[in-house]
Amino acid sequence: MNVLGEVIHPVDNPFSKEKADLGRKLFFDKRLSRDSTISCASCHIPQYAFTDRKMFSNGVGGGQTERNASTLLNSAYLKTVMFDAHLQSLELQVIVPIQEHVEMDMNMVDLIRRLRLIPEYQNAAKSIFNREFDAFVLTRSISAFERTLISTNSRFDQFYYTNNSSVLTKDEKEGWKIFTDKLYCTKCHPAPYFTNYTAENNGLYYEYGKDQGRFRIHGDTNDIGRFKVPTLRNIELTYPYMHDGSIPTIEEVIKHYAKGGKGHYNQSDIIQPFELSDKEIKQLKAFLFSLTDTSYMIDFH
Ligand code: HEC
Ligand code: HEC
Repeated sequence: MNVLGEVIHPVDNPFSKEKADLGRKLFFDKRLSRDSTISCASCHIPQYAFTDRKMFSNGVGGGQTERNASTLLNSAYLKTVMFDAHLQSLELQVIVPIQEHVEMDMNMVDLIRRLRLIPEYQNAAKSIFNREFDAFVLTRSISAFERTLISTNSRFDQFYYTNNSSVLTKDEKEGWKIFTDKLYCTKCHPAPYFTNYTAENNGLYYEYGKDQGRFRIHGDTNDIGRFKVPTLRNIELTYPYMHDGSIPTIEEVIKHYAKGGKGHYNQSDIIQPFELSDKEIKQLKAFLFSLTDTSYMIDFH
């Protein structure tokens, strides 16, 4: 069952299993980093929904990222990529961590030279793309692999999309009602994606300090504190939360919203204070954790 619908592949990157298999090998290959210590999977670990459970991630030579690693599950459906919601495709994203000094710190020219010497990669490039291994092959195959990372079979999906009411507990169902009817969460985190794919200011801070979010892309002050709205699918697995991993638990996330945010001048008007009983908080959390689906792991043992 895939409630998100069929994956649409870009015209310039039609899907093939061979391509995705090549992308998968590259995704797990530490030779993509300068000193061969870090692969994409070092920060995007399959069993943690392709995150790393760290506030910030570690790259080459103890480097540290400025942000919390995002899940890659269902990234096939992203309208824009990254917390700044500025990249238009997964293909464009691939070279960012490779070249970033605190991540893989690799020069593209050197990397292509290195990977061409590996017969498995050079042969795959020729048979799948009919060309030498190059940046085109690298970015196309890794993103083809990323588009196979689908997770849409949570217990919530079984309940909601197949009308099987017995799949969720009473508390989980009550939590879904709180999420949709009592509160305003679905304004930004609507089913089935649990994100509206925009960049919003959810009032995480009164002042954003060093990381001002999307502001750094266009220098537009309306963008200060705006970050992509993350999906809530598999939220049980992807802690700590927010772009800077500053909130460790769901209870504290709920508290943040219940206080009505910190009141930054760009904060969305939707976010208003509310009161929930301890029982309702428990129910809301139970619903959020019913969005966990680890069936994708069958391919990663
Ligand atoms: C050192 C850790 C690290 C490595 C290595 C790394 N990433 Fe990431 N990744 C991150 C962090 C941190 C973010 C969030 C950055 C941001 O949005 O500003 C991220 C974001 C992403 C996103 C955006 C997802 C979204 O929802 O917008 C994609 C796609 C991605 N990474 C794919 C990859 C691929 C492919 C590789 C290997 C070529 C890779 N990453 C290597 C840490 C890492
Ligand atoms: C105005 C849009 C908006 C509304 C309404 C909203 N959120 Fe969010 N939510 C966001 C944004 C933006 C982020 C990411 C902020 C950041 O990274 O700094 C986020 C992050 C989260 C996260 C952390 C996700 C992660 O992977 O780090 C959770 C959990 C969450 N919201 C739950 C909720 C709940 C529960 C409600 C209802 C009480 C809600 N949100 C209402 C925009 C919204």
